[in-house]
Amino acid sequence: MHILLTGGAGYIGSHTYIALVQAGFTPVILDDFSNSSPLVLERLERITGRAVLCERGSIADVPFVKALLERLQMQAVIHFAGFKAVGESVAQPLKYYDNNVAGTTHLLQAMDATACRTLVFSSSATVYGDPVSVPITEDFARGHTNPYGHSKLVIEDMLAALQNSDPSWKVAVLRYFNPVGAHPSGLIGEDPRGTPNNLMPYVAQVAVGRRPFLNVYGNDYPTEDGTGVRDYIHVQDLALGHVQALKTLKANGKSLTVNLGTGRGYSVLDVVRAFEKASGKPIAFEFAPRRQGDVAQCYASTTLANQLLNWTAQLGLDAMCTDTWRWQSANPNGFE
Ligand code: NAD
Ligand code: UFG
Repeated sequence: MHILLTGGAGYIGSHTYIALVQAGFTPVILDDFSNSSPLVLERLERITGRAVLCERGSIADVPFVKALLERLQMQAVIHFAGFKAVGESVAQPLKYYDNNVAGTTHLLQAMDATACRTLVFSSSATVYGDPVSVPITEDFARGHTNPYGHSKLVIEDMLAALQNSDPSWKVAVLRYFNPVGAHPSGLIGEDPRGTPNNLMPYVAQVAVGRRPFLNVYGNDYPTEDGTGVRDYIHVQDLALGHVQALKTLKANGKSLTVNLGTGRGYSVLDVVRAFEKASGKPIAFEFAPRRQGDVAQCYASTTLANQLLNWTAQLGLDAMCTDTWRWQSANPNGFE
């Protein structure tokens, strides 16, 4: 069964590609490489032992996507493609509304025109804005604090309207918490361009000597050690969540919206300590003011995903750090 993976050369898409092959699907990557390297394709071939099907192009190119969906009789789309840097979205909002919202509209038009109406969508815990409490259940009020978050919210609403207009659409909205880690082979992993925005890749670059120290943004939050608490989820678990979502959509045809997290929160200092243990390297850090827009705590209720997808994250913080370190130490400059 052919499955289109938009943004399949990126961080989460490449890990999901492997999980899909292992589950017996035939994933096909559609990527414009705006935030990824074609070198990932060779690595995927080494890991899976088979040729990778990949088309270079944009989700916004309707005739191109239509032709691709038709030619390979695609049974579903897993839609990862989009931009994801919060700060950049504040500085360049139109870039985000264009690629994320308009890009998705065009992808959906191509899918509709070819009657390929099964979709798994990469949403984010960012749609909860500043949650009133934790753990966060899927029925919490949604909000946004930046154009990136708003783009995910608009896409979720667009998908709901589409299903309302035509029940043949089957959609799984997956709200990821904080994806980290890497494939255990050390051949693929997260490879941010420029200075990392997120904690784990920053810590990994300090450990490998690319950055002198970590800025810990805020030590006066109402948390156990004063630093921000997040629900880190291993990208391998996240990849399996996509396989389960696809199987569930195919088996019972019911649309769903679920959190993908572990249900457990760790502070910034927990992550620093776990990474020191995994890497054997000291992680120098300095306390810095709070980062604008950050919340104190954010972690998922995982009950609904357990029930609907028969899926639970298995890997803990130590595995997340060990696998990140294997990837980072073997590839100090990422895919360069
Ligand atoms: P990524 O940047 O590594 O991967 C996205 C891929 O999409 C890249 O390979 C990029 O080249 C491609 N792409 C971008 N625009 C495209 C277009 N118009 N046409 C074709 N390809 C295009 O990001 P990721 O971390 O793998 O995230 C995947 C998805 O998950 C994104 O939608 C992101 O918003 C969402 N998400 C990520 C996180 C996270 O922390 N990584 C958290 C929540 C949600
Ligand atoms: N942090 C630091 N120093 C850094 C980077 C991060 O102390 O250099 C702290 C942050 O203040 C926060 C925690 O580490 O307390 C995690 O920060 P990340 O940037 O890794 O993750 P966020 O939870 O802030 O952001 C993630 C995604 C966003 C998404 C958001 C909400 O990266 O795309 O979750 O779901 F919008």
